[in-house]
Order: sequence, then structure tokens, then C-alpha cells
Amino acid sequence: MDLFEYQARDLFESYGVPVLQGIIADTPEEAAAAAAKIGGTVVVKAQVKAGGRGKAGGVKLAHTPEEAATAAEAILQLTIKGLKVKRVMVAQGAAIDKEYYFSVLLDRSNRTFLYLCSVEGGMEIEQLAEERPDALAKIAVDALRGIDLAKATEIALAGGFDAEIAAKVAPVFVKLYEVFVKEDATLVEVNPLILSKSGEIIALDGKVSLDDNAEFRHERAEMERDELDPLEAKAKESDLNYVKLDGEVGIIGNGAGLVMSTLDVVAYAGERHGGVKPANFLDIGGGASAEVMAAGLDVILGDPQVKSVFVNVFGGITACDAVANGIVGALAKLGSAATKPLVVRLDGNNVLEGRKILADANHPLVTVVDTMDEAADKAAELANK
Ligand SMILES: Nc1ncnc2c1ncn2[C@@H]1O[C@H](COP(=O)(O)OP(=O)(O)O)[C@@H](O)[C@H]1O
Ligand SMILES: [Mg+2]
Repeated sequence: MDLFEYQARDLFESYGVPVLQGIIADTPEEAAAAAAKIGGTVVVKAQVKAGGRGKAGGVKLAHTPEEAATAAEAILQLTIKGLKVKRVMVAQGAAIDKEYYFSVLLDRSNRTFLYLCSVEGGMEIEQLAEERPDALAKIAVDALRGIDLAKATEIALAGGFDAEIAAKVAPVFVKLYEVFVKEDATLVEVNPLILSKSGEIIALDGKVSLDDNAEFRHERAEMERDELDPLEAKAKESDLNYVKLDGEVGIIGNGAGLVMSTLDVVAYAGERHGGVKPANFLDIGGGASAEVMAAGLDVILGDPQVKSVFVNVFGGITACDAVANGIVGALAKLGSAATKPLVVRLDGNNVLEGRKILADANHPLVTVVDTMDEAADKAAELANK
């Protein structure tokens, strides 16, 4: 889960990372009140989970509460990188002397944590990495050793900080590492980390991604989350692993690998049938019971773009006859809600029994096809009708 900037700010504060005062506002009036409370110059900032808000007009300076209200009114009408701005944060204004870049992330390919830092911050890091790769220090950190002040200083020096500033940023680097480890984050990024005119190091922006797999280890207060697509929200309720895509052929399979290759064969078959494409990724996992199958079909049939459904199951521990019963049960359960043709390919454990169950049920919407390629072709053909 990615955090909003204001959530990252609050998290940083609780670990003693220096941040400025920030207050959330949902309306121009609330923004004016927040600005009055903070006093002096403030910055009104769009709260969307995307970078480049500054360039998109989502970060505005305001010298009075009235100006803060005007800025908030404009920002609350923006859509930044496809995300509608629903809230702003009114932050205390900083007198910036220098902008730096800092991040720590999980480097999956090297199985370590990676530190990135640069004395040249502010601009987008992808751009810096491309145009001035030498200016960006990349330092692997052993997850078991972590970092101490000495290591943090070494990282800062590698990032181009002079000794005096390195001594100031190093303790902040250590605290940000603590946030990263203790919160089970996969990314903590601060861009910009600034040196203020009065010589303080402050985190002015924050991007934090938490590892959802570790959420059971945390007791977090209920957090504001992004709104899910309605179909994804429905899938989540049933604990289904579902991702909506843009095509017409609904897909259900058991096992992520099988579903991925099903997407490929359907995309390939679609080229022969008017360019139809997979409509989703849906892995119902190992136990394909009638309930799970019904929940999966229900989600997919709820997608108005879907014209046909390809059910691709390889019977393993849950054998094909159980899956076939699941499909028959699911169709009975959905009744008139099931309206689109289903192409079913079953293989593996107890395949003959499974096919017999489907043949006996003789459901008008179901076509059973023996191979994956033929089934993909049939599903694509039906979607193109
Ligand atoms: N509290 C603040 N005070 C002064 N300037 C700020 C403040 N917050 C952001 N800025 C300026 O706006 C720029 C963009 O803001 P930032 O929070 O990094 O958003 P984004 O990365 O989405 O563009 C920063 O690089 C900084 O120059
Ligand atoms: Mg930024």
C-alpha cells in the first residue's frame, strides 16, 4: 500500500524525522483555517499518490488564509496523472536553501536494501538518474547489518554532500532507515530533503510504500485508502486475486502462472478474432469450490466489457470433478445473472470425471474444449460475435 504524503509526514514525525507542520483540508474553508492556525506563509499541496504534483499545479504558495483558500479551490479541481484531487495538505512554508534527494528501497534483484541519495534533489529522480547518473549514489545495505551513523555518513559523502552537511543529514538518514525497517516498508523516499536558510535539514515531501504481506505485524489506525475500482473491491471482499484489464474475454484460472499464460494465449488468439483481449486476471487459487467459482464468475460477469469467459483449470489437489461441480454449482447459484458464454478447459487430476459432470449438466452457456489453445480460440471467437 502506498501512503499519501500527509500519512508519510505523520509517520516521519513519529520517528523524529524533521518535518514541518501540516494539516489536512477537504474544502477551501478548511484550508483557510489551517493556514490561519499555522500562521505565516504556507504551501497548499494536492494529496494524490503521484509524483510531479508541483509541475502539475498541485503545490501552491499562500501568504494569507484567503490565498490558501483560493489555492485550495484551484487544486481541489485538478486531476493529476489521472487521479482526482480530493484533499489538500496545508503545510508550513519553508525557506529553502538547497534541495536533496534521499530514498531507501527493497532491491529485489540484488536481495538487499538499496540507498539512493544525491546532493542534487528536487527534480524527478528518473531524470537525474538518466542525465547525471554520477550525481546519484547507489549503495547496497545489508539487511542484517542495517545502517549506523558511520554508514549513513559514508552514504551522504558518496551522494556528494560535503563533510559539514553530511554530518547533518546522516542522523536523518538513520531515522529514515528506522522508518523503513520498523514499518515494513518497501520504499521510503524524500524528495526534496532540504537544507533550510536557517541551516536545518527537513523532509519536505514523503513517499512511503508499505509491504502488504507484513500488515499482520502492525496495529495501524484505520487509514484513508485509494478508492478501488468497484469490481476490484468486490473481488477483494471475496479474497480473490483479481486485476481488471481492458479487454473482452473474462479469465478465471487456478494458479498465478496458469492465469498469466492464459492471458498470453487469449491475447494471441484475439489477433485472429477482431483484436479481442483478456478482460482481467483472476486466480481462484487451489481450492476451486463452488463458492469461490461463483464469486469469481460473479465479479467477471459484472464487468460490462466482458463478452465471453474462459475458465482454465488444471486439476491438482483440487481435482477436476470438484472443479466441474464448482462450475455447475456456481451457474446454478448465479441463475439468470449468468448471461455470457463460458468456455471451459479442464485437465489434470480426474479430468474424465470432470468433463462428464459438465457434459451431463449440459448447461446452454457452457462449451467444453479439450486444449488450452483451442479454448482460447473459442473464447476469443465468442467475444468477437
Ligand atoms: N512546505 C514547503 N515549503 C516550501 N516549498 C515547498 C514545500 N513543499 C514543497 N515545496 C516545493 O515544491 C516542490 C514540489 O513539492 P513536492 O512536495 O516535492 O511535490 P512533488 O514531488 O509531487 O512535485 C518542492 O521541490 C519544493 O521546492
Ligand atoms: Mg517531491
